[in-house]
Amino acid sequence: MLAKVYTAALIGLNPQIVEVEIDIQKGLFKFNIVGLGDKAVQESKERVISAIKNSTCDFVYKKITVNLAPGGLPKTGPTYDFPIAVGILLASKQIHFNPDKSLLLGELSLEGNLRNLNGILSIADGAKNEGFENIFLPYSNSKEANLIKNIKVFPVKTLSQFITNSSYKNSFKPLEKEEVKIVPDKNYLYDMKHVQGQKVAKRALEIAAAGAHNILLTGTPGSGKTLLAKSIPSILPSITITESLEITRIYSIAGLVSHNNPLVRKRPFRNPHHTSSDVALVGGGTFPKPGEISLAHRGILFLDEFPEFSRSALEALRQPMEDNIVTISRALGTLQFPANFMLIAAMNPCKCGWKGDPDRECTCTQSEYFKYQRKISGPILDRIDLQIYVPKVKYKNLISDKDSESSEKIRQRVQKARNIQIKRYKALNIVANAELRQKDLKKFITLGTRSKDLLSNALEKLHLSARSYFRILRLSRTIADLYNSSKVKRTHVAEALSYRLTNGNV
Ligand SMILES: Nc1ncnc2c1ncn2[C@@H]1O[C@H](COP(=O)(O)OP(=O)(O)OP(=O)(O)O)[C@@H](O)[C@H]1O
Ligand SMILES: [Mg+2]
Repeated sequence: MLAKVYTAALIGLNPQIVEVEIDIQKGLFKFNIVGLGDKAVQESKERVISAIKNSTCDFVYKKITVNLAPGGLPKTGPTYDFPIAVGILLASKQIHFNPDKSLLLGELSLEGNLRNLNGILSIADGAKNEGFENIFLPYSNSKEANLIKNIKVFPVKTLSQFITNSSYKNSFKPLEKEEVKIVPDKNYLYDMKHVQGQKVAKRALEIAAAGAHNILLTGTPGSGKTLLAKSIPSILPSITITESLEITRIYSIAGLVSHNNPLVRKRPFRNPHHTSSDVALVGGGTFPKPGEISLAHRGILFLDEFPEFSRSALEALRQPMEDNIVTISRALGTLQFPANFMLIAAMNPCKCGWKGDPDRECTCTQSEYFKYQRKISGPILDRIDLQIYVPKVKYKNLISDKDSESSEKIRQRVQKARNIQIKRYKALNIVANAELRQKDLKKFITLGTRSKDLLSNALEKLHLSARSYFRILRLSRTIADLYNSSKVKRTHVAEALSYRLTNGNV
């Protein structure tokens, strides 16, 4: 007696279809699971036996072999319980169910309840692409799977419910598809109107938000760097459905989505502490999980007290900041997670914090100052498009009764500039200037002779690298977009250069 059902394994965000073959032969009781399963897969036997016995069916005490194919792919976790149980019931002819084009997933409790799983959105999407038409999974995961169009989602609460439904033809009911809509949520904790003064910093943040550029804020203690960074979510362009689904996939793997409202509807704002480990920041571990840089995908990664992060953690940011994905190596091969984030870093100019302040003396020695500055390596600084100094706000500005410009007004300008970019880069499948690849730069950014002269002079004087050159071009493009100018003019290039002059130093 032979049966075959289908399930899936996840490698990073990529699902792979797994065939579960069950063979039941006469003979003394033996229950073997082959196909590179880990301890959780082996323990599945006990859960499956109890769940079947507690679900109005009989467990057949014969010679049972379960094969999880492809045999070379390591299988981890308890998600194979439900497909194995259904396979055994099919092979022992206790249920009527056509397993073709159906994917089964779920961990079983001893009672036969199906428990929640992580990474369902990626699996459902992968199953649809592989030609599957139905997916049977735990009730708590069903809303998430239902976000994927063109695949029927069948929520299963218990094994008994599945058995009962399979006894009556067509009594399985798929969830109704709902239209996925994102209503912008305008409730923010911090608003730019509460930040007094700081015109240059606000302008720089507006440009950064419009083109998804990285930015470094350097300034004396209490000058408002953290406040400015925390106000950024309120000026970000609204999120598209595609972006939202991309983020939800990552949050799903990390087990961070809500069962009732699984879609992530806001751009993430991640603010890891400087004591975070390298793995927490970039991802990895025995069962690889996305790190903070992936959880910040399509949103903000805010690293406050930038130099206090460990050198190795900061250096690990180099590759993802360039490629927008992070590659994690493990004994069983490499895997990748998306990490297209906008970095906002904040730091003091020196250890004591007062270098450059007109009213207070810096007490750092020359060598202490250089030691502090050296904590941020050249290659990291080179990847930060805007580097600005945030001065202390003047007392009279601070006590002014007038509110500054509201975040909503700034956000509208940012949104207009972002819409221009989305339209321009439609064919490239990107949405912001910061994502523009070098090979496409020439096509979208052409400079006049005056702009070229300005840029080449600046490059020589500031000893900027080739990477900086291309980053300044992208930044100039964003500034032009904020002015709704199809051409990148000399003034745009000049403004872009002005955010590079300090180079993080005072
Ligand atoms: N421009 C400003 N407008 C209004 N309030 C401000 C401004 N700058 C600072 N503040 C007030 O000062 C507090 C401290 O600011 P913040 O924590 O942002 O400083 P910081 O630059 O991050 O300092 P540190 O270098 O010590 O981390 C804020 O919570 C806010 O109340
Ligand atoms: Mg701060």
